[in-house]
Amino acid sequence: MLRVEGIRKSFDRFNALSGADLHVGSGKIVAVIGPNGAGKSTMFKIITGHLKPEGGRVLFGGEPISSLSPHEICRKGIGMAFQIVNIFSRMSVFENVQAAVLSRTRQAGNIFRAASKMAVGETMEILASVGLREKAGSIAGKLSYGDQKVLEIAIALSTSPRLLILDEPTAGMSSEEAAVCTGLIRRLTAEQGLTVLFCEHNIELVLSLSDEIMVLQGGKTIIQDCPEAVCKSPAVRDAYLGGAA
Ligand SMILES: Nc1ncnc2c1ncn2[C@@H]1O[C@H](COP(=O)(O)OP(=O)(O)OP(=O)(O)O)[C@@H](O)[C@H]1O
Ligand SMILES: [Mg+2]
Repeated sequence: MLRVEGIRKSFDRFNALSGADLHVGSGKIVAVIGPNGAGKSTMFKIITGHLKPEGGRVLFGGEPISSLSPHEICRKGIGMAFQIVNIFSRMSVFENVQAAVLSRTRQAGNIFRAASKMAVGETMEILASVGLREKAGSIAGKLSYGDQKVLEIAIALSTSPRLLILDEPTAGMSSEEAAVCTGLIRRLTAEQGLTVLFCEHNIELVLSLSDEIMVLQGGKTIIQDCPEAVCKSPAVRDAYLGGAA
């Protein structure tokens, strides 16, 4: 479904990515791990078109997409929830998702219908799919941190993606909230056939959730394989423990 080949990106003269490779098969859950500053968020922003690479290419369904705008890439079927929570905190949970659905379906400019009545069914369906149905009327900014991150996922789902990219979905969550979020990711792949690409510092969670893990270090891919093989890899031990293991 997705193939990233030899991506390079620098900021000023600092090489954030200098040869990142990744492949994500349809229906899989793939994790990217790597130390702080390894280039994980930069790679995700390149895949979604928010940053342009200086070399290499990104193929989605076999088609090169790196020259497309974020909006066009979104329409092709890639949705993303960012590392930093990015919701309208004064609007209700319902309105946050509804606004995203309306912007996708381009109904926002329809002056003949009250905005509040539009896309109600679809919005409620998305909220139900992430377990936020009961909190539809709550003010988004008043939700727990865990629920705000889940709302962010709901907003990403409102564009009907085939590939959902999550940048540290459980960062800052309590262990209970992280378990709920993990369950949600599993359900979305099992029940809705979504493909998920995520990065995360919680290694136990990564090992329990992923079909495959890609390890990024200093802007380069050092391995992509099943969790067992990645755990056994001497290169990964070197990257994480400086050869001490
Ligand atoms: N807009 C930017 N301008 C300058 N440098 C940047 C910019 N974005 C990222 N960088 C640098 O590029 C490197 C990779 O950053 P990136 O955010 O992709 O890392 P990361 O793997 O997501 O890290 P973390 O685990 O801390 O989220 C870092 O050294 C970062 O400081
Ligand atoms: Mg990051």
